[in-house]
Amino acid sequence: MQARGNGHRDVLENYYNKDTLHHIALMESEADTEVAITDENHNVIIASAKLDPEELKIINMKPESVPRNGAILEKRWKSEKFISTVTPYYVNKRTQGYLYMFRSTDQVQVLINELNNHFIAAALITVTLLVLTILFLSQALTNPLIRMKKATEKLSKGDFSVHLPEMGNDELGELSRSIKILAKDLQHVKEERKEFLASISHELRTPLTYVKGYADVAKRPNIDSKEREKYLEIIYEESEKLSDMIKDLFDLAKIDKNTFVINRTEVELCSYLHTIYDKVLPAFKEKGMDLQINCNEQVSVYIDPMRFEQVIFNLLDNAIKYSGPNTVTNISMNRMRDSIVIKICDQGNGIPEEDLPYIFERFYRVEKSRSRDSGGTGLGLSIVKELIEAQDGIIEVTSRLSEGTTFTIRMKEMKE
Ligand SMILES: Nc1ncnc2c1ncn2[C@@H]1O[C@H](COP(=O)(O)OP(=O)(O)O)[C@@H](O)[C@H]1O
Ligand SMILES: [Mg+2]
Repeated sequence: MQARGNGHRDVLENYYNKDTLHHIALMESEADTEVAITDENHNVIIASAKLDPEELKIINMKPESVPRNGAILEKRWKSEKFISTVTPYYVNKRTQGYLYMFRSTDQVQVLINELNNHFIAAALITVTLLVLTILFLSQALTNPLIRMKKATEKLSKGDFSVHLPEMGNDELGELSRSIKILAKDLQHVKEERKEFLASISHELRTPLTYVKGYADVAKRPNIDSKEREKYLEIIYEESEKLSDMIKDLFDLAKIDKNTFVINRTEVELCSYLHTIYDKVLPAFKEKGMDLQINCNEQVSVYIDPMRFEQVIFNLLDNAIKYSGPNTVTNISMNRMRDSIVIKICDQGNGIPEEDLPYIFERFYRVEKSRSRDSGGTGLGLSIVKELIEAQDGIIEVTSRLSEGTTFTIRMKEMKE
């Protein structure tokens, strides 16, 4: 309104005459606003419409020292009938009069009421949508979560038959998949433990049956001393076997419980392997076999010397057990691009292809009867594997029947 008043003022100042006054009044009579032009004493010269007493009241307040760009006289649109601005106009550089603009607040009230209604409607719609969204989201989120909670409760009670629906690729889906994998793993562990316990009791029972049976026979009074000696020898061997197996089992249990400590240090591999070589060579000679070693490079690895020795002993022990006389077993070491490769290669019986994937499993023996005779427990390689993995290494096997077997250990090189 003030800007409009200023616009009229410019016209008025440029062409101050009766026609212009009329023209402005006429223009305003077509608009929502009203105009009243007064002289310098606030006496109305012309108005666009008949002035309301309220409008006259505003004019009669006779505002003083109004700035050139006008001022707002009444802005209380809520309580007053009119809002109003005033702009002075000058002719010949002195105040000639004032130009009042009025606007009935009825229209403003209606407009504001309408706007208010719109706001209320918008607010209601927003709140409803918000409530619906929250309800939907909480359903979509809490339902699967409740199902997963129930599933984990079932798991903790030992029931591994978990059924969770397929969910998307979001975090919930991932959680659901993890729970399913966990259930599967737990199921596997449970079955493995059952199997393990079954095989332990079986493996322990067999030598004990021997011990008991031969002890029974040896106890008989009418037996001659030579025979008794033979039986006692068998009893002794079987007890030896039992104590070996219990020692192995104990090792495994310690690895399983993660209570066993690995003391890794920097070890110079070749001189270390040579020391082992010297220790085991007599055992090979005793069986008419030979052992060779190819290791000349200077290589450092980060291992637990005791545990690593256990690994090499176990592998060489197998080489002795499962090879015939006049065969050669070879220990070699090679530095590859990103690892150190130790190979133990024998010319023994070899392992059938179908057995290869299982030989690192507990109690797994290729020929149960044959290795019974040679006193195996079937635990050696499973211990080897656990020990190598505990030292961040990898062990693999390749074998050809009646040609020989090669065990390959890969370790990381230790570099300064
Ligand atoms: N060097 C080898 N040559 C042929 N067979 C082997 C060799 N090493 C292991 N095996 C086979 O793998 C099985 C598992 O070995 P291991 O775990 O050391 O048990 P164990 O030596 O007590 O029988 C052995 O029973 C044997 O059949
Ligand atoms: Mg063995």
